[in-house]
Amino acid sequence: MKNKPLNLVLILLMAVLYGCGNSTNTDNPTRQKLNFDFDWKFSKGDFPGAKLMAYDDNQWDNIDVPHDWAILDTFSEDNPTGKPGGFASGGIGWYRKTFSIDRREKDSKISIEFGGVHENSEVWINGHFLGKRPYGYISFNYDLTPFINFEDENVISVRVDNSNQPSARWYTGCGINRHVWLVITKKLHIQRHGVYVTTPEVSSDSALVSIMTSVQNDFEKESQFDLIHELYSPNDELVGKVTTTSVLQDNEKEELHLQMTVVKPELWSPDSPTLYRLKTMIRSQESMMDELETNIGIRYFSFSAEKGFSLNGESMKLKGVNNHADLGAIGSALNDRVLERRLEILKEMGANAIRTAHYPHSEEFMEMCDRMGFMVIDEAFDEWLESWPFGGVKKPEGKAKYGYHLHFNEWAEKDLVELIQRDRNHPSVILWSVGNEIPDACFEIGTERLKRLMEVVRKEDDTRPITAGITHMHLANESGFASQLDVTGYNGGGGSAFMYEKDHETYPDRVMIATEVPHSFQTRGVYRTHSWYRGQNPLGGIMKVPNLTEEEVFTDVPVHYSSSYDNAMVRIGARDSWRRTRDFPYVCGEFRWTGFDYLGETMFGWPAKIWNFGIIDMCGFPKDTYYFYQSQWTDEPMVHILPHWNWAGKEGVEIPVVAYSNCESVELFLNGKLLGEKEMDDNMDLVWLVPYEPGVMVAKGKRNGKVVSIKEVVTAGSPAKIELLADRKTIKADRQEVVHIEVNILDEQMNFVPDALSRIQFKVEGEATILAVDNGDPLNEENFDSPSRKAFNGKCLVILKSTGKSGKFTVFAEADGLVGAEVTVAAK
Ligand code: GAL
Repeated sequence: MKNKPLNLVLILLMAVLYGCGNSTNTDNPTRQKLNFDFDWKFSKGDFPGAKLMAYDDNQWDNIDVPHDWAILDTFSEDNPTGKPGGFASGGIGWYRKTFSIDRREKDSKISIEFGGVHENSEVWINGHFLGKRPYGYISFNYDLTPFINFEDENVISVRVDNSNQPSARWYTGCGINRHVWLVITKKLHIQRHGVYVTTPEVSSDSALVSIMTSVQNDFEKESQFDLIHELYSPNDELVGKVTTTSVLQDNEKEELHLQMTVVKPELWSPDSPTLYRLKTMIRSQESMMDELETNIGIRYFSFSAEKGFSLNGESMKLKGVNNHADLGAIGSALNDRVLERRLEILKEMGANAIRTAHYPHSEEFMEMCDRMGFMVIDEAFDEWLESWPFGGVKKPEGKAKYGYHLHFNEWAEKDLVELIQRDRNHPSVILWSVGNEIPDACFEIGTERLKRLMEVVRKEDDTRPITAGITHMHLANESGFASQLDVTGYNGGGGSAFMYEKDHETYPDRVMIATEVPHSFQTRGVYRTHSWYRGQNPLGGIMKVPNLTEEEVFTDVPVHYSSSYDNAMVRIGARDSWRRTRDFPYVCGEFRWTGFDYLGETMFGWPAKIWNFGIIDMCGFPKDTYYFYQSQWTDEPMVHILPHWNWAGKEGVEIPVVAYSNCESVELFLNGKLLGEKEMDDNMDLVWLVPYEPGVMVAKGKRNGKVVSIKEVVTAGSPAKIELLADRKTIKADRQEVVHIEVNILDEQMNFVPDALSRIQFKVEGEATILAVDNGDPLNEENFDSPSRKAFNGKCLVILKSTGKSGKFTVFAEADGLVGAEVTVAAK
């Protein structure tokens, strides 16, 4: 140790402190999957010499991954990603990590796993080039075995190049933005993605579990071994065991197929996401060579052109949302808890499905969907050989120069195989999507490309049908593309959503799913009446009411802040879309564009850097339409009313008050006076026109004549206090886990002030640091890594991350003229 540089000593010490995996652990004799996220060096810019071991990176930043340099850089109107990328930076960046491997691993197989690097990554170890991976959303690995120096330190260098912009239609982020692992196995081992489990026969009485295992012998000698599979039920009882014996010559591999039957299986579904644990073992000469655990779910489903979708024999609709992979204020840097909180919010809304717009999301996302109960459309690409035409199909001059089309010929098959092999054991996956709004779909040649990709998918997994989201359906019908798919995805944006009936008639064998509907944007806490319209516009689009009097316009806001009152697009759009999905038995379900607001694809231009299509804002605060879906998709009694009730100066003006509820009827009271009880009907919302007077508005949801849910909205006074609500009392002291603190501005009486804009200063003492702040305002110009944020419509959010040390931390929030607040959280 005495000759080692100080930083290596420190790294080893930190590894002991944090269990960070900078040095290997030989306690486990078989497989080790070591977290490799900590203690990287990073610098923006191009440093070709940094691939060499001896390169001096002392001046570089100390960072942990997942890391997204673009979210930390300054957003600016002049940045090259422009409107598509949300005015984020791009560029080139380098990462280096120094580590050591115990000499006792000399006979092991050692590889590095990247969950995803955005994009065009090139990787070296100790100066040896390992390979490149253009696609920023795909996982990949490299075998390090031949290059490891067991006597001294090793250096992994990664060059990331996201400089050609715009490279996508949305914000991508830049860097090693997913987890990294070091995987150490014996030379006789299960191959990467080498356990593939299917359940070809499932009923409530029994399930046939079929397991394909790929075993590799890298020993330079023959190896005889036992392959053992043990299956444990959700209660951790052993419910099945199968074994076989085989012999592999040196450097030989083999696929072994075994089956077992599970009696009375507990079936996986969104309401009951029960997972079985499959333990796969390789034993040779009485010693264990490999052990790998795979979570599986037992379920069956079908897609029918007539009857739609059913799961475990029960007919149901897919109630879904589309989401991009960025996580709001932390950009594309994956954080498991930030992602988990987002899924919790969707779950509470009653969503049972998610489409991974428009590329592979992380493996951690898939695991959470298994565990929390979401069915997933697992999507691969947004572009094939034709680049996405920003200006529409008819304007090829508007094409993006630097998208996936540049890599399609060389990489599409490899990327698709990787995605499917990685995800095919996840019970959550019910559909593979080979693309979104692929321009190629409009041409016959596109159908040929589709056939090729479908073959690739089927070879890796033929247990799920294949879909793609289509926008120009009339062209995709003509080209034959739409009918080639197992399940045809209708994206509403290009009008496809209005073709269900006609297409169902023309193509009676077509299985249909609404992959993107409806498209409508709105902003949390914003209401305006100039587009308030009592009629309906089934085609969507904002209906302007002509000749408004001054009285009728009680508030007005810029168009960026499309509001909960823009019925045609927002309220009626969501309702009519859902009604069609619900009522056409042959439409399998719908996926809203989008669940959460996302970075990039900003229609309005600077300073907007997000698109507020979400029914949940960037902070995770629900907008009104969230409650519309909750009223349609959940049973637990709920009632929601809008707007807020702070309209000083508009006394006497009739304000439409809207209620969403899953109760039978709703009573509305203002200042104790009943304004009427209304029955919920197929309108799916209730509207009262209420002349404004300040006070307390109460909605009471009733079932069987009894009040089962109450929502109160109070006219608030001036901002007086800050309220801090932490989503966790304790977090892990692991340098990764976060706490989300919701900040509310209250008046003296503790009422929420719905239009407060106070600037909050945050300070933290103890074992956490501020990771990001946000307020959900689509026009917010500030960066996210700041200790201060203005409230937007009464709210903002601060996210704090553990320092890695156990203890506690206190967050203090202050604002001019307000009583401050603090909250303490433990880190263990
Ligand atoms: C769809 C597209 C989405 C998004 C959306 C915006 O056509 O698939 O990625 O661009 O339009 O309206």
